[in-house]
Amino acid sequence: MTALSVSTSSAASLRADALVIGVAKGPKGIVLAPGAEAVSEAFEGKLTEVLTTLGATGAEGEAVKVPSPAGLKAALVLAVGLGDAADGGYEAEALRRAAGVAARALAGSKKAALALPAESADEVEAVALGGLLGSYAYGTYKGNGNGKEPVGELVLLTARKGSKEAKAAVERAAVVGEEMNRARDLVNTAPNDLNPKSFAAIAQAAGKEHGLKVEVLDEKALLKGGYGGLLGVGNGSVNPPRLVKVAYTHPKAKASLAFVGKGITYDSGGISLKPAGHNETMKCDMAGAAAVFAAVVAAKRLGLQVNVTAWLALAENMPSGSATRPGDVLRMYGGKTVEVLNTDAEGRLVLADAIVRAGEEKPDVIVDVATLTGAMMLALGARTFGVMANDDELRETLHTVAGEAGEQSWPMPLPAELRKGMTESTIADLANMGDRMGGGLVAGLFLKEFVAEGIDWAHLDIAGPAFHEGAPYGYTPKGGTATAVRTLVRFAERTAAGDKA
Ligand code: BES
Ligand code: MN
Ligand code: ZN
Repeated sequence: MTALSVSTSSAASLRADALVIGVAKGPKGIVLAPGAEAVSEAFEGKLTEVLTTLGATGAEGEAVKVPSPAGLKAALVLAVGLGDAADGGYEAEALRRAAGVAARALAGSKKAALALPAESADEVEAVALGGLLGSYAYGTYKGNGNGKEPVGELVLLTARKGSKEAKAAVERAAVVGEEMNRARDLVNTAPNDLNPKSFAAIAQAAGKEHGLKVEVLDEKALLKGGYGGLLGVGNGSVNPPRLVKVAYTHPKAKASLAFVGKGITYDSGGISLKPAGHNETMKCDMAGAAAVFAAVVAAKRLGLQVNVTAWLALAENMPSGSATRPGDVLRMYGGKTVEVLNTDAEGRLVLADAIVRAGEEKPDVIVDVATLTGAMMLALGARTFGVMANDDELRETLHTVAGEAGEQSWPMPLPAELRKGMTESTIADLANMGDRMGGGLVAGLFLKEFVAEGIDWAHLDIAGPAFHEGAPYGYTPKGGTATAVRTLVRFAERTAAGDKA
């Protein structure tokens, strides 16, 4: 993992392989961002000219390298684009992305100094987090020399080092960045290595390391407890399901949050098998469980004054002679029956059990996170998750905190008339399929049936942004993204601060 430190050294005197500065698009060509002053001096006023000649425009995503002149201790200057010039300070997201681009561009080097705008605590946090997230690379299966090592050390240059807020900002960025990278690792792990049992073992080990209470229900305990959803989805696989509870409690907490994650370690579709072309990325179907797990560890490491329990609903959805058939009826935890019309609509089945179980502990709020429907991707694209809820204020709150945390989301409705399709033509209480139109909302309505009276509940459908298939951009790598972690952490912080949960 890339090391992160803060320094008040001047950009000119710091020894590093590279020195990163920001450039933006001004009305008359590029402009240098705050932080670049010492570098500009070393170039004797020629820096914008040199960068322009090299093709720099200040556009977001751009990275232009220039050899250092005498007067700078670093060998190289890297100018990263911030987008449009901003007199009143750059947006946190522009800074995170620029720092991420820089960290990625400098993979293979040992030490880089970031001389990006870092005056306010928010700026410091944004640069630190973007740098940590951008330096992420998943190398578990690559042989030596097959791919560059992430940059070894990032030194964030700021005038604010001593201040309490700057220290807290870097600390928060380190926790959130490390936990997001943990979630990314889990998503990127090949599904022959990450199954419900191994995921549960990872949760237990991390729980021990960080002082969290972890309880695992194995297939015997699930059978005894009547968890028909988890068992029904898992029974086609040689890797049996697990329900994992990870609890963080604060002695002075005034509110309790339950985060429930869909943890399908591989989704083949089951007997309703997915066609070729639709299952290559389905190791990502546990991204919700990875996100809630990372969030509860982050809450603990940050010492937030709130209770957070993560519930990981883990199963592998495979076809076999023992798999659930389309037409089977499952008795879910809590007693409701579900006719399985399509075994590929499995996420809602494991989540239903976990939501009922979470509700028994009477949390103030339940938030579930799931790569639930292709329909949500069709609606919102690959970078935005949908937010549904049984409470308007909670839905708005989650949408708002997502935006504050730098995540794209959009509120979606749960139209009452779509419920009919799941109840009218089934021999059970519910079917796991309803109208094809609005499929993402139908899935949300299904989950809502399992939320206990009186509990506020929200559902984040992260099917689009959980796994990034294109080229890396900003601080987002190919593969697992750790979508929703920042939103959950921010929501927990807000709850801890006493804002209405
Ligand atoms: N895991 C998938 C949803 C998904 C699709 C996630 C693409 C990420 C990328 C989910 O289990 C699923 O298969 N949903 C079905 C539901 C349908 C059968 C009602 C879908 O969306 O097609
Ligand atoms: Mn599926
Ligand atoms: Zn799935």
